[in-house]
Amino acid sequence: MEPGLYTKGFKRRVNVALGLRSYDIAIGRGLLASFDFGNCSGRTSALCVVTNSTVWPLWQGRLLKGVLSAYTLIDPIVIEDGEHRKLLSTIETVWSHLLAHRADRSTLLIAVGGGVIGDITGFAAACYQRGIDFIQVPTTLLAMVDSSVGGKTGVNHPLGKNMIGSFHQPKAVICDIDTLSTLPPREYASGIAEVIKYGAITDLAFFEYLEQHMEALVARDPEVLIDVIARCCEIKADVVAKDERESGLREILNFGHTFGHAIEAGLGYGEWLHGEAVAAGMVMGAYLSEALGLLPMRDVNRIIELTKRAGLPVRGPSSLAAAEYLDLMRVDKKARNGAIRYIVLDSLGKARTQPADDALALASIERANALAATSS
Ligand code: NAD
Ligand code: GLY
Repeated sequence: MEPGLYTKGFKRRVNVALGLRSYDIAIGRGLLASFDFGNCSGRTSALCVVTNSTVWPLWQGRLLKGVLSAYTLIDPIVIEDGEHRKLLSTIETVWSHLLAHRADRSTLLIAVGGGVIGDITGFAAACYQRGIDFIQVPTTLLAMVDSSVGGKTGVNHPLGKNMIGSFHQPKAVICDIDTLSTLPPREYASGIAEVIKYGAITDLAFFEYLEQHMEALVARDPEVLIDVIARCCEIKADVVAKDERESGLREILNFGHTFGHAIEAGLGYGEWLHGEAVAAGMVMGAYLSEALGLLPMRDVNRIIELTKRAGLPVRGPSSLAAAEYLDLMRVDKKARNGAIRYIVLDSLGKARTQPADDALALASIERANALAATSS
């Protein structure tokens, strides 16, 4: 994408280098109204927004008054809010809407919402007429730093979360941090868990930056937010460029997720937010790294303190016994032949995949569960 395609308000740009499928992530303020969406694809005849019943009433005014108004617009597809709508039947609804409005292969979909909307829109775009272009306009912190980047798209199946999907890269990702002003605090904190993850797995200097700026980040300071989102996107872009299809390196992005998915599945999805489960899962992963003789205890404590300062849980739910995690982790998508693959830290800023004895994993869960919930 040419720099000229960005308009006022654009602050940072991160490129995801994937050859012909490369794209840019724009991060700034006021982008909903000023970004030239239609120009990203190079073959756009009409634009169609896919969004949800919470986000659209809040932000449609900005979008429709802006550059979007210069294009032929198909009626927006407004999906009922919630993870429970991330289903194949919703994808069919999207396709039916597009067919009914005679959308063709040059129609551009614009996903406006959190990770649920991004995953639905990306998958619908991947299959409609064998693949059309789409743009991600993430409106949650989690979606800005994680789900909108990297091309994983899909829906849940009654037998498992994110089990049906495809890789389909967007043409651009537009992070307008103004949209975060309406995001509920719990959802915002959930995104910070993924932010901490990036520092822990790849970048000690970024982890230290977060230690210095956590209160400003929690307060949604715009300058800090833009720097943080840009750094997270750079890290994710770098990992995805090296391992787009998750045959190795990309697995490190799952630090905290193996334990976290057990919490989400064990409680029933939606009880804890994804980032909350990942936060407690990272603490368990840090303890496991220490038990394996890799991570010094002082670094485990740094992860715990930073997580608490973000307002995130550091221990699992009291209703889930440590022994229950192992069964849940064995059926996780990342397990291979029932063997659990843990992401562990060699040091702060350096991660890898490693198997571990059940006894060590159990002890790590129990150590996290014994922690006090708030900062000392
Ligand atoms: P979400 O999409 O459900 O959004 C969370 C809540 O915030 C929803 O109620 C939503 O309506 C609301 N919301 C969104 N933007 C808002 C705004 N600006 N103001 C007010 N409310 C707003 O959840 P999420 O945390 O963004 O994403 C979680 C989803 O992402 C899960 O389905 C997960 O599987 C998926 N995910 C995908 C990837 C990937 O690589 N594709 C990575 C991580 C997570
Ligand atoms: N959220 C992990 C990944 O995109 O690979």
